[in-house]
Amino acid sequence: EEIEKGGYEHFMLKEIYEQPRAIHDTFRGRLRPDQGIIKMAGIDQNSERFLNANRIIIVACGTSWHAGLVAEYIFEDMARIPVEVEYASEFRYRNPVITENDVLIAISQSGETADTLAAIKLAKENGAFVFGVCNVVGSSIARETDAGAYTHAGPEIGVASTKAFTTQITVLMMIAMKLAKEKGVFSESKYHELLTELEGIPQKVERTLETNPLIEKISEVYKDSSNCLYLGRGYNFPVALEGALKLKEISYIHAEGYPAAEMKHGPIALIDEQMPVVVIATRKGHYEKVVSNIQEIKSRKGKIIAVVTEGDNTVKELADHVVEVPEASESMTPLLTTIPLQLLSYHIAVMRGCNVDQPRNLAKSVTVE
Ligand code: G6P
Repeated sequence: EEIEKGGYEHFMLKEIYEQPRAIHDTFRGRLRPDQGIIKMAGIDQNSERFLNANRIIIVACGTSWHAGLVAEYIFEDMARIPVEVEYASEFRYRNPVITENDVLIAISQSGETADTLAAIKLAKENGAFVFGVCNVVGSSIARETDAGAYTHAGPEIGVASTKAFTTQITVLMMIAMKLAKEKGVFSESKYHELLTELEGIPQKVERTLETNPLIEKISEVYKDSSNCLYLGRGYNFPVALEGALKLKEISYIHAEGYPAAEMKHGPIALIDEQMPVVVIATRKGHYEKVVSNIQEIKSRKGKIIAVVTEGDNTVKELADHVVEVPEASESMTPLLTTIPLQLLSYHIAVMRGCNVDQPRNLAKSVTVE
């Protein structure tokens, strides 16, 4: 096991650090900015199904469901295809309306999650086209779907999912870009620009990982908290949900993710000097609005840990701690902003003496209901 951990103290930390490589492996052989193409057999052979779809329904559980939420923003924004994201466990039992013109995308790291598998079967029975985004090659979901794309993240051992999440987003982004191009939403130059930017993401993830010593210091300050709030907007709202999930999974601190603007409809009542609030405030996309949310937290004496774009000075004045990530298009920021939140939950859990790789009561793959 020590050899498998490759010198890291835990699988989770190893997998966090593997992300630049894992994302690279996800687009290796597929993304070709020099030729202006993305090659994905599962999409190339079925693009008509996607382009003629009434809507895309995404089903998943846990962290994969959060990747689905990010994909909702990506697909609607880039490819202009309506998307619904569903918990597989709810979808399968609520007598959903599914037609032959629907495309269902099932996202699953393990490819074995029972509820996701059941949702796939239901969609197939109703004539929908079912596409899988899995990590484990040859898994049940990979076999049950009509077509699919693997994430190629390599084995994920830590129960709390990390590199599976960022590679799922990478695959889904490539699909959305491809469809946007085929639909004519993107010009050649816009397409080329985004392809090139995506190719540069692993290097930006690498730079983001350099925030680790700072995050360790921040973790020291908040390790004894009993609650934590995570806020984000737009593409970074699902990242806030994922940050909160990571913290509760491995450190057992109660954490909630919220869309920043919804704060005033509830969570603001919880804010006092004991409450750490992690805010994703990257410069693109509703930045000013998030800054005003930060001001509201500050005036209630909440402790602010902000994830900002490199060189940001406005938030630095207001927040207790700032963690910088490299500049990127808004759609690509989740691949960066997620990293500090993974590290924060990791360090806090280690400092609290928790079993990071095998948290209590949780399983890597939930193959029963
Ligand atoms: C479990 C794991 C999570 C994972 C979820 C969905 O709860 O602990 O890390 O996100 O299942 O798993 P899947 O393999 O379908 O992505």
